[in-house]
Amino acid sequence: MPDRSSEALCVAVTGASGALGQALLRRWHQRGARLIALCHGDAPLALQDPEGRPIPLRQVRWQVGEEAALEPLLREVDVLVINHGVNVRGDCGADATACSLEVNALSAWRLLELFAAVARRREDGRRAEVWVNTSEAEIQPALSPLYEVSKRLLGQLLSLRAPELASRLRLRRLVLGPFRSALNPIGVMGADWVAGQILLQADWDWGLIIVTPNPLTYVLMPLASLGRWAYVSLLRRA
Ligand SMILES: NC(=O)c1ccc[n+]([C@@H]2O[C@H](COP(=O)([O-])OP(=O)(O)OC[C@H]3O[C@@H](n4cnc5c(N)ncnc54)[C@H](OP(=O)(O)O)[C@@H]3O)[C@@H](O)[C@H]2O)c1
Repeated sequence: MPDRSSEALCVAVTGASGALGQALLRRWHQRGARLIALCHGDAPLALQDPEGRPIPLRQVRWQVGEEAALEPLLREVDVLVINHGVNVRGDCGADATACSLEVNALSAWRLLELFAAVARRREDGRRAEVWVNTSEAEIQPALSPLYEVSKRLLGQLLSLRAPELASRLRLRRLVLGPFRSALNPIGVMGADWVAGQILLQADWDWGLIIVTPNPLTYVLMPLASLGRWAYVSLLRRA
């Protein structure tokens, strides 16, 4: 993780009012981070620590398609967690397709590129981090065709752009199995436990962070990442 021993890290999380977004913000608060909650909705976000005290955070409204408006804010961010997502389940219509691609894949990719551009212009010498929550649906069925298509696209885009972006940013891919949330009410894991495991693996400086009860993912995801890396490296022009 970025080293700022004398100052609190500034952490921004998209999808902040969702189950994992809130859990990550609480965990980062325990580590003394300055928090920015990026929310697409209007509802005020109020979080409390385990003792019931309010957690200080700055809530910023953003919209898919208007990522560029976040540029000034991103200049002060050390760790950006791209976590927002939507699951239209069995809906395979044109609107659901557009929404899934925009929210799950394209807005995340635009934020990634924007943050990399901001990181390149940084003059303080600090290396920023971006964590991209792609999901186990990158390589496993999720019983939701558009969720799988859009998350796979995000995963592929991340693999495609990683070699170039990694020179400016520390990239971490979050590959998570089912946890309980509005997006997946029957998930087997708890969002808070998942958030704890994510931060633990980030402490170990792992770029591929996997949290799932499915043992196959621990085998298939590194293989898929390696295969994509080899393919992109072979074909990529300098
Ligand atoms: N739950 C699972 O089983 C599971 C498994 C693997 C990966 N994931 C991924 O984990 C991430 C967090 O999901 P979650 O399970 O915590 O779900 P969640 O509670 O539904 O949170 C998702 C959040 O994404 C934001 N969002 C939704 N629609 C949006 C839109 N149109 N534009 C911008 N933001 C939008 C919302 O936060 P704001 O209102 O604050 O913007 C929403 O609360 C997602 O990327 C999801 O795909 C989930």
